[in-house]
Amino acid sequence: MKIELNKNKVFFNNGKSVEEIHPFWLRERVDGEEYLDKGTQQRLFDPSSMSCEVTIENAIINEGFLEINFNDGVNLKLAIDRIASEFSKKDTVIKSINKIKWDSNLENIKNFKFNENFFESKEMHDLLISFYEYGFVIIKNVPTENNFIVNFANSIGSVRRTNFGEHFNVRSKSDPNDLAYTSLYISPHTDNPYRNPVPCIQILHCIENEVSGGFSTLVDGYTVTEHLKNQDPEAYKVLSEVKVRFKFTDKNVVLEDWSELIHLDENKEFKQVRFSPRLDYVPMLEKNKLDLYYKARKKLSNLYNSEKNRIKFKLGPKDLMMMDNHRVLHGRTEFDPKEGKRFLQGCYIDFDSTEGKLRHLKRKFNI
Ligand SMILES: [Fe+2]
Repeated sequence: MKIELNKNKVFFNNGKSVEEIHPFWLRERVDGEEYLDKGTQQRLFDPSSMSCEVTIENAIINEGFLEINFNDGVNLKLAIDRIASEFSKKDTVIKSINKIKWDSNLENIKNFKFNENFFESKEMHDLLISFYEYGFVIIKNVPTENNFIVNFANSIGSVRRTNFGEHFNVRSKSDPNDLAYTSLYISPHTDNPYRNPVPCIQILHCIENEVSGGFSTLVDGYTVTEHLKNQDPEAYKVLSEVKVRFKFTDKNVVLEDWSELIHLDENKEFKQVRFSPRLDYVPMLEKNKLDLYYKARKKLSNLYNSEKNRIKFKLGPKDLMMMDNHRVLHGRTEFDPKEGKRFLQGCYIDFDSTEGKLRHLKRKFNI
């Protein structure tokens, strides 16, 4: 990447082509004291209200900086490196972390250990990288007093409150409004598929676990759907095209949202899975298409429920699990409440929390 000058025009040379940089694109990046608040890094002028007919009167490159005088009397000094990073047009922090596929053979997952100053530590940075690689992470020794899960979540970002409250208590109770609050087996699912937007990350914190059952289970939706794409492209296609209605209802609220079970991004790459077969309603489609859809859904369900794709482990007191609710499905085995207590607390945060924290820690530790 190279910045070149020719007759008061600035060009970006990426080795393959040479493109002129619009003078107004550069003018927007003026960052002198009058133009940019140093504390917030927010502009003190409004480029959307200005004429974009600005021209360059003089431009030089000096020791890694591009220096420009514009015709409106304003000067710019901009690091060439910064221009290069903007031209890469990608999120270099999150998108550069490659997802690691896993199934029941996953071993030696690194557990992190809570300590003082955890949230501002290099270990927190490593934890977040691991979270984006695997879609989940487990932290040991997290205090359980006074709903500490809320502190935990708010020290990474902000709790995403839902109609289940700021946090929710998972233990069997009479007259539950969700099967989570029973002692029954819960098959792999993603949470709250009926919400718009769907909560990004679920945090589950084990307070007590005295029962012999009640194992936690996780399945990587990314691994499973990529496998389906290779094995049965037709099934993958219909599941990534047909939107179904997810619905939750109780006496206070009716929540509803439509989505594909496999949601792809603009490049047709994996973005999100939703799976909660107690809550989905397939639309009325032509019979042949529905035939195809139901077979494909069954295939996906078989993969999600296969022991081959599932990891199973027991959360003990003070263990806290953070999982990507857009990628990883979770469930649990049944337990006998007569054996003792099983008490977990849960809450949600969104990706802006983990992304913002990770960018901050990268800046702090210059990684
Ligand atoms: Fe759940």
